Order: sequence, then structure tokens, then C-alpha cells
Amino acid sequence: MNFKTDPRFSGIMPFQYKVWLSSPTMHGDEQRWVDEAIRTNWVSTVGENINVIEEEIPAKIGRKYGVALSSGTAALHLAVRLAGERLYGPQPANKGVLEGYKVFCSDTTFDATVNPVAYEGGEAVFIDTEPDSWNMSPEALKKAFERYPEVKLIVLAHLYGTPGKCDEIRAIADAHNALIVEDAAESFGSLYRGIQTGCFGDYSVISFNGNKIITGSAGGMLFTDSGADARKIRKWSTQSREDAAWYQHEELGYNYRMSNVIAGIVRGQVPYLEEHIAQKREIFNRYKEGLAALPLRMNPIPSCTEPNYWLSCILIDEDAMCETVRGEKRAVYVEESGKSCPTEILSAIAAFNAEGRPIWKPMHLQPVYRNNIFITADGVNRGRSNAYIDEGKIVDTGADLFHRGLCLPSDNKMTTEQQDIIINIIHRCFM
Ligand SMILES: Cc1ncc(COP(=O)(O)O)c(C=O)c1O
Repeated sequence: MNFKTDPRFSGIMPFQYKVWLSSPTMHGDEQRWVDEAIRTNWVSTVGENINVIEEEIPAKIGRKYGVALSSGTAALHLAVRLAGERLYGPQPANKGVLEGYKVFCSDTTFDATVNPVAYEGGEAVFIDTEPDSWNMSPEALKKAFERYPEVKLIVLAHLYGTPGKCDEIRAIADAHNALIVEDAAESFGSLYRGIQTGCFGDYSVISFNGNKIITGSAGGMLFTDSGADARKIRKWSTQSREDAAWYQHEELGYNYRMSNVIAGIVRGQVPYLEEHIAQKREIFNRYKEGLAALPLRMNPIPSCTEPNYWLSCILIDEDAMCETVRGEKRAVYVEESGKSCPTEILSAIAAFNAEGRPIWKPMHLQPVYRNNIFITADGVNRGRSNAYIDEGKIVDTGADLFHRGLCLPSDNKMTTEQQDIIINIIHRCFM
């Protein structure tokens, strides 16, 4: 399909500069702290920028300790390893701490949320998503504990900046003496009942990846309320050196510490978190208003939450979906008047030089996790049903969101004029 010659899109000109899904927004202070690191020669994994962000960010969130690491993924790995060690004891260097154990994991998420379970030899059991928040379904989690009451670890992600049902999931976890690793990579600054995400896990993580609400180009942070745990994470992240006159190693180590140069960028970004959130909120509201007449809805905002609106997403009504099939790597659709689908909308906006993205493909549909157990709110797992709609009822919310949903360009530097054009393109997809 050539959208530029399609009469439905006549009169629309491609953007001269790409409108991104979510790109870094620098303000100038970042340069100052990076320069300071270079001027003072602290171009290393120690330095003032690291010290400052390890003070400022946990204080902002409401946690006692934050450890600056090389990425959100590294932070998740160490969080999962620490949780596993606390639950099942330390293991020899050649053995994962979760070997032989199941872990309940968010299903609709980026694979970085769940891969650390596999790094540690554990078996991720995927818990279906709920329509209310697009996060882990407490109902499905309860069903999972009915089947596997021995499980002691939950990995919970908050998608697109909207918190999951933290209280309900914490209550279920506590009833089973389970720990929570909270992946707040996408939700820095979001509130659940007035409390920041990053406060709900025994160990919690944020990311400073280039597309996040604030960025260091890379980097992540792990939060804990235990000084001993924070010290252990720092030690593990710097190759587990013992306090000895030579390189002495009694535990497995990692090179996961954040650089002081990266920390300088993060330090410069921290004061702008609220400004970025306000810009993203406006983007969300403008889409909501501009798309209100179409057969779709925005990603849900549960009443007890104040998200950071990191990405604005839409979900097309089932009866407004044109016929579409997704294979493992390609998708096709049949154009139909009055209807559309994520593939058509994403292709149309891409043709005019703007970037969207499908909703995360659920982990239970990923070939790499094809043999893992998947539990829905009905207690069904993939052994009984692989179809997401069964006799008219949605039985697999994650697959349904992937089928009907997409993330819209949500860059905080997008102008209102650019956003109006994107809204116009989406309207025309339904013509
Ligand atoms: C939900 C989620 N978890 C984890 C990560 C991993 O963070 P990083 O890219 O900093 O490793 C990301 C994003 O990148 C993410 O979106």
C-alpha cells in the first residue's frame, strides 16, 4: 500500500523531521555535569554524579537506597538474583539462584522484565494482563497461586507509565510470603494511590534508556530499603571484589555499575521529570480529544493512579478491526471502509515520517518462551486454549491488546500541529 498516493490521505505532506515515539530531551544541565566529570577526571564508575543521583532519586521516589547501574536490565538481573538468594539461599558460581523454581511474571511487557528469571535458571510462569490497567491481572495471579502455591517470587511491570494494581498484588504476595521485584522502568514518576511506583517491590527498578521519561542515554537504578542489600548490589555490580589487598572473589560478580559520565546526564535530567510528565499528559489528552469520534479508546487510566503518560496508546474496538493476520515476522490486512487495524495505522503514520509501535507482544506468545506456562483470570493455561477469543469472550487479554492496540508517537518535543496531522492520519485510516 502506498499511503502517499492513496486518495484517503490526499493533501497530507510527510514530516520533514521524523516525529519519534519517545526520544531524549536534553536541557543543557546534562552537559554541565558531563563536563564536570571530564574536567575533574572522574570518568569512571565512581564520582560525584553517581553520589548525587543515588541521594536524589530514591529520596524523590520514597525509598531508602538506590544503586546506579548500567541499565534497567542489569538492575532487574541483580534484583532477581538478590530475591532468589534471599528466598533459596546462595548458590555456587555455576548455578542460577532460581534453578528448579517457578516465578510469576507479567506477560504483556518487554522481554527485559522477564529474561533475568531465565538468566538465573528459573521458570517464568506468565500471568495474563487485566483490561483495567493493561498490567498483571490480580485475578490471574490468584489462580496461579491456586495451582502453584509454592511460588515465592513475582516480577511485576507497570506498562507505558500506568501503575498496575499494586495493593491487590502486594496483598496476594503477602498472603503467600512471596517477594515482589517491581519493574518501574517505564513508570518513573507515576503514582498509585499517591505513592510512587518503585515503592511497591521488595526490590524495584527504573531505567534511563534513551526512550524513557528521563534518560542518561542508558542506565538504570535498583531500589531497596535495606542498607545491607544496597551494599551487596554495589559489590555484585563491581565484580564482587572482596575487601582484600588483591582481587579476591568469593561470589560471582558483574560489570553492571553506572558510569559517572552517564550519571551526569541523569543528574541533569532529574529536575525535568515533572515537566516531561506534564508534556506527556498533554499529548495523551490531545489524542483523547482528537480521536474521541473514532471506534477506539485510549490506554486505561485507573482512578487511583496518576501515570507519567510515557506513551499514549489506542485500542481499536473489535468490530472496527479490519481483517488482519500476523505471522511471526510479517503482518497483512484487508483494507475495509470504516475499519482499520494497528498494522494499517502504524504503516500510515510511518509513511508520513512518524514512529509508532505495536503493543508489546505478550511473553507467552514469544517463540523463546513457547513452552512456559501461561495463566489467565479463568485459570486457563495455554495447554487448554491458545485462542484469545473463545465463543465471543476474550480469554487472553494480552493477545487481545497485541491484536487491537498500538502506541502512538508520544515524543514530548512533538508540536500540536504535528500531533494534529497524526490524529488526522488516524481518522483517514478509518475512512
Ligand atoms: C518494561 C521495561 N523493563 C525493562 C526495560 C529495560 O531497561 P534498559 O533498556 O535500561 O535495560 C525496559 C526498557 O528498556 C522496559 O520498557
